[in-house]
Amino acid sequence: MKITLLGYMGSGKSTIGRFLSKKLNYTFYDLDELIEQKEGQSIPSIFKEKGEVYFRKLENQILKDTLRSDSSFILALGGGTPVFYDSMDFINQYSESFYLSLTPKELSKRLYREKSKRPIISHLNDEELEEFIAKHLFERNPYYSKAKYKVEVKEKEVPEVALNITQILNQR
Ligand code: S3P
Repeated sequence: MKITLLGYMGSGKSTIGRFLSKKLNYTFYDLDELIEQKEGQSIPSIFKEKGEVYFRKLENQILKDTLRSDSSFILALGGGTPVFYDSMDFINQYSESFYLSLTPKELSKRLYREKSKRPIISHLNDEELEEFIAKHLFERNPYYSKAKYKVEVKEKEVPEVALNITQILNQR
């Protein structure tokens, strides 16, 4: 089985994915890390030097190569991965997809400290951030909501979100 975790930046895709991979004894992949390894460059410098269009093509290619492989794994996607090309159809064809959902307020609280690592939001101040996230999430929602399952993260700790995911998988 392949499990994909999707959702906005800061929703905990990588942290929850890593935790769940230990619980289920699955390999864990982080799409952003796979991109950085392939390109030998950090995400912010790919955006800066090669631009977003280049990044999105590369992201889509690595997503497809990874999903087509035979193994079982948990894959944390990037926040924008579901939105470009035919990614969501591909993700649902090959994996059990989970949308980790949070409100703009919850996301802005989580993201403020680490926004420098995210080129899409690094230029925004505290007040602009929540408004930007609200609009951006509204645009991305039609894609995120195509996930097979939705988990509300709220104030839950990582083990509780991981438990929600395993319960859904067991009930299938
Ligand atoms: C992006 C999210 C990032 C990374 C890139 C673009 C986005 O991944 O792929 O900075 O468009 O939302 P995380 O969601 O893991 O931060």
